[in-house]
Amino acid sequence: MTKRVLVLNGPNLNLLGTREPGTYGAETLKDIEALCHAAAEDLGLSLDFRQSNYEGELVTWIQDARKTADGILINPAAYSHTSVAIHDALRAVSLPVAEVHLTNIHQREAFRHHSYVSSVAFGVICGFGTLGYRLALMALADKLK
Ligand code: DQA
Repeated sequence: MTKRVLVLNGPNLNLLGTREPGTYGAETLKDIEALCHAAAEDLGLSLDFRQSNYEGELVTWIQDARKTADGILINPAAYSHTSVAIHDALRAVSLPVAEVHLTNIHQREAFRHHSYVSSVAFGVICGFGTLGYRLALMALADKLK
């Protein structure tokens, strides 16, 4: 059966392309969505790609994933560093989680060095730009085999 992956993107990622391009690059979230769909097709996954600026909406989508997804790829963006609610939701659903960051968060400000999501993820990819999404989908496809 085709495995279903929920791809979640946190706050401000809707601004990719225009947001600090020196840090986040020129690609837009639409470009990342297209890249994810192409990777999913190669890997035989089905994909649900979403973005929200609201913590509660992300929490609700994670809860809903219990019924609609087999795994989660998440770039929690700034909520990585603040959200116990997203940590708890991911722990509650007990689906495999791959965490992605476009930038190398360990090379940046100290407040970005800790992620509340990492302890509930089976793997974390950061610093490889949009390629990180493809790598995380590969890891999820392997995990869900
Ligand atoms: C980010 C890194 C976070 O620290 C930041 O708040 C983001 C994006 C990344 O993809 O590199 O919004 O998750």
